[in-house]
Amino acid sequence: MAEKVVINEVGLRDGLQIQPKLVTTEGKLELCQALIDSGVRSFEATSFVHPKAVPQMADADALFPRLPKTGGVAYSALVLNDKGYERAMAAGVKSVAIALASTETMNQKNIRMSLDQATTTFAGLMTRAKREGIEARAYISTAMACPYEGKVPVKVVMDLADKMVKAGADKLAIADTIGASSPAQCEEVFRAVVKEWGAARIAAHFHDTRAMGLTLAWVALQEGVREFDSSIGGLGGCPFAPGASGNLATEDLVFMLNDSGFDTGVDVAKLRRAVGVAERLTGQRLGGRITAWWLSQERKAAAKAAQAAE
Ligand code: COA
Ligand code: ZN
Repeated sequence: MAEKVVINEVGLRDGLQIQPKLVTTEGKLELCQALIDSGVRSFEATSFVHPKAVPQMADADALFPRLPKTGGVAYSALVLNDKGYERAMAAGVKSVAIALASTETMNQKNIRMSLDQATTTFAGLMTRAKREGIEARAYISTAMACPYEGKVPVKVVMDLADKMVKAGADKLAIADTIGASSPAQCEEVFRAVVKEWGAARIAAHFHDTRAMGLTLAWVALQEGVREFDSSIGGLGGCPFAPGASGNLATEDLVFMLNDSGFDTGVDVAKLRRAVGVAERLTGQRLGGRITAWWLSQERKAAAKAAQAAE
């Protein structure tokens, strides 16, 4: 039987947070449904952050309770402080994610906390979630490189991850937030975290800034990782991390995994419609690296249909 790989769709959060055109709650629900129709069963749906800092996420409290209740679909939400955690609980969130950046400057820019303050705050949130029966996901963000401080040593990632696990994190997601990792660095980091905590506890999050997204995912896969974040159409980027362009596109990741014999449960052809929905909602041209191939397939099919009609 094919080995399962979890695709955690982050387009609704990481994907949309940087988009200048506000997407309505209805629009987000439509996109979520299109992804569910394609077989996606895991989502990071929103973030409970300050609405002025990230206007696109201002509807988190209204959106979360309205997400489709399809069986087997799991939703998480990002929280970065107690206030966010409490809003998330009021909205019915059962899985919270925190994002601990690996450097002093990145935490300052993102959440106005020092690295020490952020570590203490997020450890507190992980412990609280664990105590309250909520799934606790810890992202170590800018884990390979920080836009302000450069390359991050693997030891820094290990120390921060260790603190999150000791505080109660069920899952550790290692995030190359600005898409700056080389395959060699990716191998070093994932080999180290998998050795320390086991592959079942690890998830990977990549951006495709330098066209390395799929390669990095393949490297992490070879290290045993079986859970990946990705974003429909390659939407994405962090407003506080200059250089963070789109996330690894869900359609590219799913194509690579399905084509290699893994079971993602996602139908890559059906993702085409979800990309269309995301394009309409954001007013942007989107699409991963397989878009050109999709278009050529469609042209062929159209030519065949025209011939048949003659
Ligand atoms: N949701 C809504 N309001 C919040 C909030 C939250 N999660 N956290 C704080 N606030 C409010 C406080 O209630 C306070 O309001 P008041 O002045 O009316 O009393 C005000 O914001 C300031 O609170 P403070 O604790 O000093 O927060 P801050 O201004 O230092 O902001 C963050 C901290 C983390 C909330 C804010 O920087 C933020 O949301 N940043 C977004 C980061 C992000 O999403 N990055 C991308 C993903 S990693
Ligand atoms: Zn990201």
